[in-house]
Amino acid sequence: MVLTQSLKHGSILHDFLCALPKCEHHIHIEGTLDPELLFTLAERNSVQLPLDDPAFESSTALKARYSVFENLDDFLHYYFIGFSVLLTEADFEALTYAYLERAHAQNVHHLEVFFDPQVHMERGISYSTVMSGLSAAKARAAAELPDLSVMFIPCLVRHLPIPSALNMLAEVVAAGHFEDGTVAGFGMSSTEKNMHPTMFTSVYDSAREAGVRNLTAHFGEEGPAEYVSSAITHLGVGRIDHGRRAAEDPALLDHLAKNSIMLTLCPISNVALRGIAEIEQLPIREFLERGVRFSLNSDDPAYFGGHVLDCYCAVQDAFNLSVGEWETIAKGAIDGSWCSSERKQQLSLKVDEAVRRQRMMIPM
Ligand code: ADE
Ligand code: ZN
Repeated sequence: MVLTQSLKHGSILHDFLCALPKCEHHIHIEGTLDPELLFTLAERNSVQLPLDDPAFESSTALKARYSVFENLDDFLHYYFIGFSVLLTEADFEALTYAYLERAHAQNVHHLEVFFDPQVHMERGISYSTVMSGLSAAKARAAAELPDLSVMFIPCLVRHLPIPSALNMLAEVVAAGHFEDGTVAGFGMSSTEKNMHPTMFTSVYDSAREAGVRNLTAHFGEEGPAEYVSSAITHLGVGRIDHGRRAAEDPALLDHLAKNSIMLTLCPISNVALRGIAEIEQLPIREFLERGVRFSLNSDDPAYFGGHVLDCYCAVQDAFNLSVGEWETIAKGAIDGSWCSSERKQQLSLKVDEAVRRQRMMIPM
């Protein structure tokens, strides 16, 4: 991977970052559909890809188009076309298991995976088809991928009307999936421009009334810091996905730190979608210095060309962090997870062990 080769300071810590037990909280399962699989599934499922866009002439052309996204909405256009090839439970299972396997190989030990059931339902694929595929992959991972905990988070999408989001939420509630742990919480994604958090209070109120405790939302990716603070105040979220622009408001940073509200940062995604020109522009140092908890995540690796370890290496490349700072990041990501305190304790011991080994090898 190019990012690893271009490591400026960090190659000395590359093996450590690989071995470091990781949590990933911001990965859209539909964002793991790479162009080759997209074309394979289109053929297998007899799905006609757009004829009027030369990007769909081949998987190579599509990959090339993915390297020049102009912004979030430009990406989302392609991302949602990708959904059209996913039809069966087996498609969702295969896509999900492939990602779990890949993340496991990069020493991810805890995964919280987003999916967009609302979009699938609107195109005639039932919630139960999608959820059964995801759950089957999780069951297979429990048998075949040691020590990987997996949770799922349905997201409402902001570009569709509120009644459609309420309908999706009602279906997840009716299935009893918040109660029985099939899904771990509720999130919100898709386009951010002109999507003020207060537009979605009815959906988040309904989720809370249904007993959903773990709430998150994408904000501060393209939108201003005010969207982040408003999501906390009006939607009651305890986590923010992206949130990089929170750094523009010092009082908000204090609030995030004081209330242990985690940001699920996505460094490679931010560069790919031109929110920042380079990873050095991410406020990683400010977050560390002010005690803002964050995790590092791949978002949509098939579209942005970097998996979770690439994100860690790219951040190391840009900021030359110490082992102690990585320990803080890894522990913060564990504490901000939605797993049990017992699982957090297990993960924390694993981080201690990785740090101990590193310090034994290179005292620092
Ligand atoms: N859905 C998938 N990836 C996303 C992103 N980066 N921002 C908002 N919605 C998304
Ligand atoms: Zn995202």
